[in-house]
Amino acid sequence: MEMLRTIMVDVAGHPWALLILAAVIICYQIALLKAPRLPGLPFSLLYLFLALKFVCLVLPQTTDARIFTAIAVAADVAILWAGARLIFTLVVESWWAWQRKTKIPRITRDLFLAVSYAIILLIVMRTRGGVNLIGLITTSAVLTAVIGLAAQNTLGNIFAGLSIQMDHPFRLGDWVEYGNNTGKVVGIGWAATRLKTFDDEMIIVPNTEIAKTLVKNHSLPTPRHAMKIDIGVEYGAAPEHVRKTLLLLCTQEPRILKEPPPVVRVTNYGDFAITCQLRFFYNDFGISPELRANVMDRIWYTLRRAGIKIPFPIRDVHHRHIERKAEMEESARIRDEAISELDLVPILAPLLPADRKRLALGLTIEEYGNGEIVVEQGNPGDSLYIIHRGVCDVEISTAKGPPVKVATLARPAFFGEMSLLTGEPRSATVRSVGHTIVFSIDKELFRDILLAHPEVSEVLAATLATRQAKTMGMVERRREEEAKIASGLLGRIRSFFGLA
Ligand code: CMP
Repeated sequence: MEMLRTIMVDVAGHPWALLILAAVIICYQIALLKAPRLPGLPFSLLYLFLALKFVCLVLPQTTDARIFTAIAVAADVAILWAGARLIFTLVVESWWAWQRKTKIPRITRDLFLAVSYAIILLIVMRTRGGVNLIGLITTSAVLTAVIGLAAQNTLGNIFAGLSIQMDHPFRLGDWVEYGNNTGKVVGIGWAATRLKTFDDEMIIVPNTEIAKTLVKNHSLPTPRHAMKIDIGVEYGAAPEHVRKTLLLLCTQEPRILKEPPPVVRVTNYGDFAITCQLRFFYNDFGISPELRANVMDRIWYTLRRAGIKIPFPIRDVHHRHIERKAEMEESARIRDEAISELDLVPILAPLLPADRKRLALGLTIEEYGNGEIVVEQGNPGDSLYIIHRGVCDVEISTAKGPPVKVATLARPAFFGEMSLLTGEPRSATVRSVGHTIVFSIDKELFRDILLAHPEVSEVLAATLATRQAKTMGMVERRREEEAKIASGLLGRIRSFFGLA
């Protein structure tokens, strides 16, 4: 140890040695810019040490000896702090990263360094400067009391912060609920923990508060999380029908997990509605508001299509009549529109007005919300759809890659003719874009039309052939593109590794 000190003193006492040391440090700092994975050095402490040593060298010999001693003590403290910091980086931080596969928590690091720095300062001041700081602090009762009182809250926060680091009730990135606040943990500091809310606001909670209060961690033990939605349905709706309808909805939202499966339970028979609870799991608490809103939207459309009403308090029979009347009027209006709409559909051009009216009276009116699936690729189906309002995307899924959009259909386009005519499963997924109203014509109703007007099936067959050819062309093009990308990548891999 003494030998090391002698060497250091010799080196530090020589201007050339100091210059070489400065050059080495600067070179390392530049290298660190190019290779950030190299371990960092405490550059500011090293530069401070060099600066103090240079000052010692250039000061005239006549300068007061006490100034020399003060600068020498400061230089010693700087180099020893730098050493402690370096040992901490190379030994403790590397060990932590290797053992726990994470970065050492900031509080633990700061505390460790603060204690080491304090010990070094006390020793150097005592041995080299001749000042006993411990004696000074302990004998000054007033100073101790002042420091103690002033630091009471801060110390409480620091210890609470330390206990958070040790206990790991939450980690950075976890979603936690504290009191009425819910947020993502974006910082665990000395004094406070920072949460970012769904509204992009920052909540700063003192660590002592968090240590005292119940904190709910939505990201532990796994990021999987359950969402429960209560829905009131009319008394006339059978629970099994409601259950099937809501579970079908869950299969259409890809963010809802298949395992554990969604469940629908009747939870209450209320004054005017049966309350059912839909519970499903999803993987990221951060999407909760958006997912909830999306599922709530879909519930409205799905229940409406299934003929299940969401009732509201009915206090007067008169009101109910008005509501029913309005509903029937709306339905009759859409049906009237349907009769005139069917005139515009090219495939139905050969139909006589009486046929169109029969068709309009027999069809079902279905409404879909944004992103909802009207028909799903691979599912059986035997109805034809005519778009009355809105737009639908037609997508084809292939074994590889995301679905390909092959067409966008708008009023008065039709779809679903392929399964209807061939009995094959649906060849594509048709998805509503925004709010869409479609007319669904089932097989029985359509058979009567085809028997009376065989030319309709010829037009349908021609459309079917054109669409199939277009779809096959697009899927084939996608395959060719994928093959081209794969062969390009293969070439790059081969040239990178120098393969033949
Ligand atoms: P079907 O197979 O019964 O169900 C999916 C429907 O998507 C299909 O009938 C067609 O009506 C429609 N469809 C398939 N491919 C295309 C395409 N290339 N252009 C327009 N519509 C299509």
